[in-house]
Amino acid sequence: MTKPCVVLATQNPHKVREIRKIMGRLPFEVKGLEDFPPPLRVRETGKTLEDNALLKARAALRRTGHVSFSDDSGLEVKALNGAPGVYSARFAGPGCDFDDNNRKLLRLMKDVPAPRRAAVFRCVVAVVFPDGRERLFEGRCPGRITAAPRGRQGFGYDPVFAPRGESRTFAEMKLPEKNRLSHRFLAFRKAERFLVLTFRRSPNRFSHK
Ligand code: IMP
Repeated sequence: MTKPCVVLATQNPHKVREIRKIMGRLPFEVKGLEDFPPPLRVRETGKTLEDNALLKARAALRRTGHVSFSDDSGLEVKALNGAPGVYSARFAGPGCDFDDNNRKLLRLMKDVPAPRRAAVFRCVVAVVFPDGRERLFEGRCPGRITAAPRGRQGFGYDPVFAPRGESRTFAEMKLPEKNRLSHRFLAFRKAERFLVLTFRRSPNRFSHK
């Protein structure tokens, strides 16, 4: 019998591989949207990470008919009332890159003293089923914004974010070390536990629409 499949709402095969690694051995196969052409681009128009994760997962379910899941992440800085949050990717405006975003963040935080530089990386994973049920899972990694960028690993805000209890930034850590602490890892691990338990209890919820 072929394994049932669960679809990760991304066109990016690297992301599918990364998430398969996080999720380990599963009783179902994890496929990306590459396996369901033509390409599906979903506009992330939500006002929260939860909205965007659901938008993408629902679009994948509509396209494929399979149980689908998707994530959305962002950095929330306390002194900036939670910004950049859901707008993390485009904080410095249209067409900006990671360096532009980090420069803007450090500029806004210039006069904020060390004790008030708390921030949290948050990841939300949405899981949606063909029978209409939906679940959200959250992973959080608390830390602080450094005074200047440090390190060359990783991506995004990694050079300006030091996780709690660490003097190094994410960009100064090796990838496996960062991954064990990361919001994305924690959220996908929760989603994995839920999916595996649900599959064992009610495999019929995984049947194709
Ligand atoms: P996405 O939802 O995973 O695509 O993340 C949106 C944006 O949040 C990225 O473009 C980054 O700017 C930021 N971000 C999310 N996760 C991380 C991380 O682990 N390190 C650094 N930046 C991140």
